[in-house]
Amino acid sequence: MDLSTTYLGLNLPHPIMPGASPLVDNLDTVKRLEDAGVAAITMHSLYEEQITREQHGMVYHMELHDHGSAEALSYFPSAGEYRLGPHQYLDQIHLIKQAVAIPVIGSLNGTTAEGWLDYAKLIQEAGANAIELNVYHVAADPAEGGDAVERRLFDVVKAVKSAVTIPVAVKLSPFYSSVASVASRLGDIGADGLVLFNRFYQPDFNLEELAVESALTLSTSADLLLRLRWLAVLHGRVTFSLAVTGGVHTPADALKAVMAGASGVQVVSALLKQGPDHIRTLLDGIRAWLEQHEYESLEQARGSLSLERSPNPAAFERAQYPRLLQTFSM
Ligand SMILES: Cc1cc2nc3c(=O)[nH]c(=O)nc-3n(C[C@H](O)[C@H](O)[C@H](O)COP(=O)(O)O)c2cc1C
Repeated sequence: MDLSTTYLGLNLPHPIMPGASPLVDNLDTVKRLEDAGVAAITMHSLYEEQITREQHGMVYHMELHDHGSAEALSYFPSAGEYRLGPHQYLDQIHLIKQAVAIPVIGSLNGTTAEGWLDYAKLIQEAGANAIELNVYHVAADPAEGGDAVERRLFDVVKAVKSAVTIPVAVKLSPFYSSVASVASRLGDIGADGLVLFNRFYQPDFNLEELAVESALTLSTSADLLLRLRWLAVLHGRVTFSLAVTGGVHTPADALKAVMAGASGVQVVSALLKQGPDHIRTLLDGIRAWLEQHEYESLEQARGSLSLERSPNPAAFERAQYPRLLQTFSM
């Protein structure tokens, strides 16, 4: 069964790859992932705060020794808390490229179009085949409107695009007022792909300690549904690659993402829970389903459940909404 796909201009034997995560920190794990059949490796992120701290002794415009910023600074991890420093990160890309034959996607994570983005070029020079850009920003400033928040994203993407020649994917947040417009404008400024969606961690409260408690919760297949909607809306309306990240645990999840329009399928929580061999389970399950249902290739299925041909996805969604609510009875 032909599962091949083209993601970010990379010709891959199939769309399944690990998403950005600590799975790449250990070369043995990376090799196990390659042995299990992943199509590419996505690095975990190198953070703006790590880079600016090293470049200028500043974290995100806050002087390390400025007492006025002391509280805000205390929110950030110290340099030693990151798994790999900026130079080690580049070395790790280099080592991974030497150890495996599959493409490697570097990941940058930050929110300003400034000097830290020099690392985009260094990531390319270290051998990465593409870059994923994660502009993880919680828009909490009442004085900063939606336009300014979007401009921040576009400025970062433009800066990276002008610094590198390898493809650039943007890992997007679902919290824009118009995801479709943001996606289309990202295409206009040259983004080569979108990864849907960033999974923001959700802080909780500890009532006994009266404190904020942050826990890293892994996803479930329920997280996939938000992604399916937006893949289905965007497929056919944008010309660049779409990938899913969030909620892919089973072969059925991966097939749904492809049918919604994904050409890349990223998996993290399922691999952290089940280990690298889970890739084989996913690939075997996808192949078996396609064979049973007499598909000739995965490409034949791609986008088949998207809203590409729907003249008005908003009306389609709106129509489903009251219909669904009417089905509930007590
Ligand atoms: C332990 C852990 C580390 C992660 N590190 C990163 C990271 O460095 N950069 C990033 O963009 N996303 C990171 N993510 C998010 C994942 O790439 C992915 O988008 C998210 O977990 C949703 O996919 P999943 O449902 O398959 O887990 C991380 C997730 C986990 C669980």
